[in-house]
Amino acid sequence: MEFSIKNGNPEKQRSDCLIVGVFEGRKLTDAAKNLDVASNKAISAVLKNGDMEGKLNSTLVLHQVAGIVAARVLLVGLGKQAEFGERHYRQAVRAAIKALPKGVASASIFLTELPIKKSDIHSKVAQLVEVAMDATYQVNAIKAKKAEPKTLNKIAIYVAKPENTQAEAGIKLGLAISSGVCLAKDLGNLPPNICTPTYLGEQAEKLAKQYGFKVEVLDKAEIEKLGMGSFLGVAQGSKQPPRLIVLQHQKGNKKQKPAVLVGKGITFDTGGISIKPGADMDEMKYDMCGAASVLGTFKSIGEMDLPMNVVGIIPTCENMPDAGAIKPGDILTSMSGQTIEVLNTDAEGRLILCDALTYAERFEPSAVVDIATLTGACVIALGHHPSGLFSNKDALAKELLEAGEVSHDRAWHMPLWEDYQQQLDSNFADMANIGGRAGGSITAACFLSRYTKKYDWAHLDIAGTAWKSGKEKGGTGRPVPLLTTFLVRRAAKAK
Ligand code: BES
Ligand code: MN
Ligand code: ZN
Repeated sequence: MEFSIKNGNPEKQRSDCLIVGVFEGRKLTDAAKNLDVASNKAISAVLKNGDMEGKLNSTLVLHQVAGIVAARVLLVGLGKQAEFGERHYRQAVRAAIKALPKGVASASIFLTELPIKKSDIHSKVAQLVEVAMDATYQVNAIKAKKAEPKTLNKIAIYVAKPENTQAEAGIKLGLAISSGVCLAKDLGNLPPNICTPTYLGEQAEKLAKQYGFKVEVLDKAEIEKLGMGSFLGVAQGSKQPPRLIVLQHQKGNKKQKPAVLVGKGITFDTGGISIKPGADMDEMKYDMCGAASVLGTFKSIGEMDLPMNVVGIIPTCENMPDAGAIKPGDILTSMSGQTIEVLNTDAEGRLILCDALTYAERFEPSAVVDIATLTGACVIALGHHPSGLFSNKDALAKELLEAGEVSHDRAWHMPLWEDYQQQLDSNFADMANIGGRAGGSITAACFLSRYTKKYDWAHLDIAGTAWKSGKEKGGTGRPVPLLTTFLVRRAAKAK
């Protein structure tokens, strides 16, 4: 998709389709008013006929409107004017893009003129780009007959001339974030027989080449040398060899301590010997979405050439049942030296993350954020809207919450109280890998907290947000927008 910034009145624009907004109560926006005047009241006549009220998400396409150069006009409902905010703006953009008729190759959008509290043209344009890219994403389906490419390939965003520079910067930011989101979606959507640990390692190497990151992909022997007994315990039930991927973006001051992102990369989670029920098990191909979000975020910051030091660590393997697989009752020794009684082999995410979190210590991080499709319990607690956020440092939690709000990729702060820790007690090892049904997402975070005492740390449980089920099954690319925004804001502060 090609985005451009343009100035001028809508009625004069040569375009396959003009997009203008209408508030509830058939109230025309300025751009819609211009069209109304140029067309000798054709727009208000259509509204008067009752074809459109202006309800949020509603759309109406008009063809060959007299007095207007463009071939079509798409009216998009904006809802109540008094309530209009960023959320409505994003929804209206999405509805409009989705409602464009098939033949439209170029669209011209007149929606950034709408005033939104606490927003500016830079953010409005960036969000428009992100939403448009999200709405037009196409899965690389593996079918005998290739899907036809979408005809829509150009979007012109109309702004007032003095806003041009800010708007251009908005396109850049929006495209950088979208490219990371798109990569995270693509990786998540791949079938697990293609997206293996080896494949993820190759993708990391490809990214590194493209953007100049430093990259290391450690194999099983090297992981053994590090003493990652917990990670290797999970990997031992699979024919696919594990990988530990380490990416480094070194564009900050040499002395600047890096932010470290750690992503769970289980390329398929059967549950292992504590095997999962069959229904919907295919969705466990998405159990590497934490890893995908780290790779996606690296793509975004690579695109932006973000002036900051960032490290990405991805432990990746399959969780399979096999004669060699770990069993309930097995005790593993983690890289930290702490021992773990495996009471359920399906609580494998924490087992691979704990060693990666210990490994993170060597970078003397300013902060470590891990991202994981960690618990079904998180989905029960929060549903599919926010990611669960846990942290040993309130200031870091606040930074991430704000980044989530700003990027519309929200998280919700969950407790990490000492009171929950005893649920992990084991008679036979330093800790058990599960803490019972109560507060399952919290005890999972408690488990990780035992490996992150040496630095500021936050954990994002993305089990409910990384992909959608049902008819619209597919990766969401979350939380790439949150993570990228978090890093962008940190880089700005460091300046
Ligand atoms: N990858 C799953 C978590 C998951 C399940 C995410 C369903 C999204 C949808 C994780 O490895 C897992 O299996 N967790 C268990 C933990 C339990 C055994 C303590 C769970 O949530 O059931
Ligand atoms: Mn599991
Ligand atoms: Zn899992």
